Amino acid sequence: MRFTIAIDGPAAAGKGTISKAVAAHYGFAHLDTGLLYRAVGRKVLDGVEALAAAEALTPEDLSDPTLRTPDVAQAASKVAAIPEVRAALTDFQRAFARRSGGAVLDGRDIGTVICPEAEAKLFVTASAEVRAERRFRELVTGGHDTRFDDVLRDVKERDERDMNRADAPLKPAVDSVLIDTSALSIEDAIAAAIAAIDARKNA
Ligand code: DC
Repeated sequence: MRFTIAIDGPAAAGKGTISKAVAAHYGFAHLDTGLLYRAVGRKVLDGVEALAAAEALTPEDLSDPTLRTPDVAQAASKVAAIPEVRAALTDFQRAFARRSGGAVLDGRDIGTVICPEAEAKLFVTASAEVRAERRFRELVTGGHDTRFDDVLRDVKERDERDMNRADAPLKPAVDSVLIDTSALSIEDAIAAAIAAIDARKNA
């Protein structure tokens, strides 16, 4: 059985939490595609050339504990604007999407570029302030010394870059279901996602 669920949206909108819950609900495999760009960004910060880093990625690179830091997020957003880097990561994502047993992929361009034929597409978003607040709390809980204003500025900078790049910009696929999580609890956001996917599954 092949069934691809594409979950796109801006930074810290809740894609990760929703994707993991949706994958567990249906028993599908999950790929956080942001991690691929973060792993490339990490290597660039270490002095490796971006395309060389993308071409040489290994599964171990994806478990680097520093991938979640704000510096790596910014570096990821920058390497993600390089078309050759995106191209180097495409085949792996497409193969994952079409694996048997079902797949959930979350990112920025899954429903538009990586898997336009995905059976279900969600666009998960929230206001920049709500997203920055969530990311700020995560960082503080993780022991990072950070200021809310800096997190908000980072979120807005990344939105700007991810939405305005020429290649595979962040935007909702025309056939995606929009879920705004600004005023939703985690449980309600997950329930909304599952209801939207069930509607596609039963269509
Ligand atoms: O989802 P994330 O915050 O981990 O993603 C980090 C960066 O990677 C994001 O700012 C843009 C880029 N990205 C992308 O361009 N395409 C994807 N499918 C996933 C992430």
